[in-house]
Amino acid sequence: MDLASYLADEKLSQTIRLFLNLAISIAGSIILYKIMPKFKDVFMRADLKGTDLSKKEKVQIPEAYGVICGAFFLIITFIFIPLRFYETLAFNKELSHHQFIEYLAALLSIACMIFLGFADDVLDLKWRDKLLLPTVASLPLLMVYFANINSTTIIVPYPLRPWLGYALNLGFLYYIYMGMLAVFCTNAINIYAGVNGIEAGQSLVIACSVLISNIIEFNGPFRDNHIFSMYLIIPFIACSFPLFIYNKYPSRVFVGDTFCYFAGMTFAVVGILGHFSKFLLLFFIPQIFNFLLSVPQLFKFIPCPRHRMPKYNPVTDLLEPSVVQFYDKDLSKLSKLIFKLFRMLKFIKVTEKIDEKNKKLVCYESSNFTIINFYLTIVGPTREGILTKQLLILQVVCCFIAFMIRYQLSKLFY
Ligand code: UD1
Ligand code: MG
Repeated sequence: MDLASYLADEKLSQTIRLFLNLAISIAGSIILYKIMPKFKDVFMRADLKGTDLSKKEKVQIPEAYGVICGAFFLIITFIFIPLRFYETLAFNKELSHHQFIEYLAALLSIACMIFLGFADDVLDLKWRDKLLLPTVASLPLLMVYFANINSTTIIVPYPLRPWLGYALNLGFLYYIYMGMLAVFCTNAINIYAGVNGIEAGQSLVIACSVLISNIIEFNGPFRDNHIFSMYLIIPFIACSFPLFIYNKYPSRVFVGDTFCYFAGMTFAVVGILGHFSKFLLLFFIPQIFNFLLSVPQLFKFIPCPRHRMPKYNPVTDLLEPSVVQFYDKDLSKLSKLIFKLFRMLKFIKVTEKIDEKNKKLVCYESSNFTIINFYLTIVGPTREGILTKQLLILQVVCCFIAFMIRYQLSKLFY
């Protein structure tokens, strides 16, 4: 067979594989949608439940539903393994070990993260462990990257080339960056939470953006990477969509940390093994902003309450920024500086509690340092369902901006 017809064949079989992937994903999605309500009692009996804090009646609904979603993702992707290599099974065509190992390592890391997320939901792990777990779970991935790809060279943007040259080999630092990417993606989704539907919703928007970028790059030079990403992101969308339907306002289930970790790890995996981790991060603009806003509370410069989600006002049925109170004397010099800066930039709304008698400052009451509270300080008290919708529209707009940066602005830099 000449090369041209072989290539045509390869394209055809890639298309067939994608269709097989799509078909089992859709089938899985429908079954998942149907069986999800059946698990409600099982979860409640196992004490996997949480109170919806932003409702008049404080009802309890099942929590950690992400674990069903994760299980279905694994079922779909496992069934896909023999389908992915159907030519090897059917026609004795040589197996691509390279691709096989990448796919298995990807699934191993994601499966680990689902397990660790579920452990977190059941055992309520400490913040420190939450940082450590994704690092460990990403090790198989990094090892495969090391064995198969091991490209740690990045192209330097135009303005920096006089100093750094055209390309820069980051070596070991690149592995640290990739490990941190996994930690970031998982936690960033988990802390951008607290209103019905936002966890599953943001993940769906990001996943769809990844899929769109894969389709755009489909005929480009890195076709294989993008097809690899599609093999994982299509089943992910298929499993998250039914979950979103049950999780959106008014929530019938909570996704739990299981889902947040599962989603974050899936993104990290496709970003790393698909070689578009920097582009991937552009889809995380709201999450990056939320993370930067959260830094003072995450690293304990400012006290961080257990929940930072918006406060529900039962009289008006609206959500308001939640607050944290602290004394001026309890802040270190650095904390005071950070507090001043955030206050000046209007990221937080602060009221000063003054003692009526001696007119002295008693304590500060500041809105919590999250993007949702920041948003609420701008637009004012909002109904929960509307707030989720607006935040998801913001996510879509940010992803659109990401595409503009990638395909227009980056021409100036590369
Ligand atoms: C993260 C956030 C926390 C936020 C919480 C809510 C940080 C450091 N942590 O904590 O500030 O309050 O998520 O998701 O930023 N819940 C609702 N409505 C929702 C979603 C959740 O009432 O739409 C409540 C339920 O009681 C549920 C609980 O939040 O049981 C789940 O919180 P959990 O995921 O355990 O909180 P963390 O991820 O630790
Ligand atoms: Mg959570």
